[in-house]
Amino acid sequence: MGQRLDLSRFQAQGQESCFHGKHIQPQIYAGLNGSNWSLKDYEARGGYAALRKILGQDGGEGMTPDAVIADVKLSALRGRGGAGFPTGLKWSFMPRQFPGQKYLVCNSDEGEPGTCKDRDILLHNPHAVIEGMAIAAYAMGISVGYNYIHGEIFEAYERFEAALEEARAAGYLGRNIMGSSYSFQLHAHHGFGAYICGEETALLESLEGKKGQPRFKPPFPASYGLYGKPTTINNTETFAAVPWIIRHGGQAYLDVGKPNNGGTKIFSVVGDVNAPGNFEIPMGTPFSKLLELAGGVKGGALKAVIPGGSSAPVLPASIMMDITMDYDAIAKAGSMLGSGAVIVMNDTRCMVKSLLRLSYFYQHESCGQCTPCREGTGWLWRMVDRIERGQGRMEDLDLLNSVADNIQGRTICALGDAAAMPVRGMIKHFRDEFVHHIEHKTCVVPAYV
Ligand SMILES: Cc1cc2nc3c(=O)[nH]c(=O)nc-3n(C[C@H](O)[C@H](O)[C@H](O)COP(=O)(O)O)c2cc1C
Ligand code: SF4
Repeated sequence: MGQRLDLSRFQAQGQESCFHGKHIQPQIYAGLNGSNWSLKDYEARGGYAALRKILGQDGGEGMTPDAVIADVKLSALRGRGGAGFPTGLKWSFMPRQFPGQKYLVCNSDEGEPGTCKDRDILLHNPHAVIEGMAIAAYAMGISVGYNYIHGEIFEAYERFEAALEEARAAGYLGRNIMGSSYSFQLHAHHGFGAYICGEETALLESLEGKKGQPRFKPPFPASYGLYGKPTTINNTETFAAVPWIIRHGGQAYLDVGKPNNGGTKIFSVVGDVNAPGNFEIPMGTPFSKLLELAGGVKGGALKAVIPGGSSAPVLPASIMMDITMDYDAIAKAGSMLGSGAVIVMNDTRCMVKSLLRLSYFYQHESCGQCTPCREGTGWLWRMVDRIERGQGRMEDLDLLNSVADNIQGRTICALGDAAAMPVRGMIKHFRDEFVHHIEHKTCVVPAYV
């Protein structure tokens, strides 16, 4: 068994902020100052104009559900929850003519290490999520929605509830919205902080009041979702992007980003930077620019970056400094944009210790349903632990890759892949540090703190 980790060494230092005025062409953060979250402030920023537009309450003709979906497809908005699936395409999977109840679910479980954007949206711009969900429900013929909010960010849950009350009172939610024939009821629900409940089918189980464990797929939620009914699930940031798209048009959103990667994205820049925080920037912005916005590297030279939350493979500085921040460029470089958490590591960081921390997280969060993940994540952690403590063997490096191979693609949900990918990435790019630990029983980085 591995030793217990002293987790305090990994606690974030410093104050993260999102009101630094360093966003580029912001859409979600536009006009926010930390206290103007309420309905009247949102309306003053043009809030609910998109909902008025689709319902024809602005003097216009309104938009058909098909036209809304077509605009979202044109925008090249991709899901901000991690997989980057095209949002308009997902919406078109909903069987709109299904005669029974259909559901819309917002995934605000935000548990990916390094990621802190959704809680900011809920706290500072909750009506953008409500309006985005109301538009999505209209497009898919859905009358009931839920927002599942991470249990450890209770303040965000309370804020969202307060915003729901305002929206209901103003007639933006409920029966016959703004006098139209369209009705949509939206409710908030808070979980209890399990990482696995962010996986969409585990979230649905949890929302139904059961143990939050992922379901076998297929069937996918579009046909068998909440209470067995057709369900569409999107991330908080995905919904918050929708009002801007409808107000300004899908083409305008696409033009802000780059082909296949429309709009802006909020990146949570954390780790060894001088000014950690959330930064909303156009898709396709160079990483070097994002690093500059976050105040540059703190405490040493740039060594590596995990560009998309802890599940994404690490990339060395030499690769990162040449890439742009969008789904396609990061995938081409061998990693993932994921949830958009950019974990910056300086050259005092030991990659063996960093992998130990990640492996600990995944073995702790495995729900235990399938053997490769339940057993394999523990094996990975214990092997990295013994290497870190100077008790590793050279053959452990191949064994680590072999265990990762036997997890990846062989599990019910992608947590298994998320545990395996960082291992492969670390050994691929920083093998010499693992070898040094095995041969010299100590870190290659002398000044590790
Ligand atoms: C282990 C695991 C954890 C996840 N956690 C989250 C999460 O916290 N928030 C989220 O939006 N998506 C999370 N996802 C992705 C969701 O399953 C789903 O793809 C996403 O909510 C879909 O929304 P999108 O299309 O808008 O990205 C997770 C996936 C896995 C496998
Ligand atoms: S991969 Fe892991 S977290 Fe996902 S269902 Fe299997 S055991 Fe549970």
